[in-house]
Amino acid sequence: MEVFKEKDAIRTQVRDWQSVGQTVGVVPTMGALHQGHHSLVRCCVAATDHTVVTIFVNPKQFGPGEDLSSYPRTTEDDLKDCEELGADAVFLPDDSAMYADDHCTSVNVSGITDGLCGSFRPEFFDGIATVVTKLFNIIPADSAFFGRKDVQQLTMIRKMVSDLDMPVRIVGCPTVRESDGLACSSRNRYMNEEERKLAPRLYQALLAGKAAFEAGERDPAAVVVSASREMLRESGLKLQYMECVNSDTMQRALYPLKGDEVLAVAAHLGATRLIDNITLDEKAEQC
Ligand code: PAF
Repeated sequence: MEVFKEKDAIRTQVRDWQSVGQTVGVVPTMGALHQGHHSLVRCCVAATDHTVVTIFVNPKQFGPGEDLSSYPRTTEDDLKDCEELGADAVFLPDDSAMYADDHCTSVNVSGITDGLCGSFRPEFFDGIATVVTKLFNIIPADSAFFGRKDVQQLTMIRKMVSDLDMPVRIVGCPTVRESDGLACSSRNRYMNEEERKLAPRLYQALLAGKAAFEAGERDPAAVVVSASREMLRESGLKLQYMECVNSDTMQRALYPLKGDEVLAVAAHLGATRLIDNITLDEKAEQC
């Protein structure tokens, strides 16, 4: 496995592979790799001839007062994981390689990014759309792998790729969970022992919403009430949003629910912000 810091060098490597008919997949990450990232790398290794993992903590997707400076940086372990999982290359740029001092361009995908996390983190999605566009230009991969845990991000990236005719196939991979149901996240390590015990309640709340749908409830507001009731049984979790949304537009779901809608939640547990989501009828989930 080779580690690349320079944009031109990784682009040349990717083009060399493609010039002899080999396919390339990319797994964009901010490092602090966990089981969720591992499963993305495994999917990419299985589906393509060459896997490139990118590790870059993107300052443009953090707002003032957010956790940019304390975001976990575990590069040595990450590189070991990538090697063991069978990645061929890691792109590990410095901030200055990604953003020149006079960088002034940003990519905005409207609509999809207005609600859910977009309502609370105004810089977030433009920062992601901008860095992912840059990564796709630096690494002209055939396919790119993202987790469904960040469903609004995944939906935005699919739309951006379609709207801007970017020649890359977007693959969404299932959320990986700890044995108690908590979705894997680099931020899980911020929680203390007590918070960690409470955290699976987020997923239990989503399951309660899904159970209401399975029992025949077709009113999105009633599904949200069932899920939130489950969460509010635990006072330590401060709900930021719980919403049933259309899976293509991320806009509020309409009555009657069909099953392909997503129930999405964000909550604070002490200083940690957690997000999660579930498709009401898993058979309807897009990959
Ligand atoms: O999901 C993430 O880790 C990040 O948002 C991404 C896609 C790597 C962009 O910085």
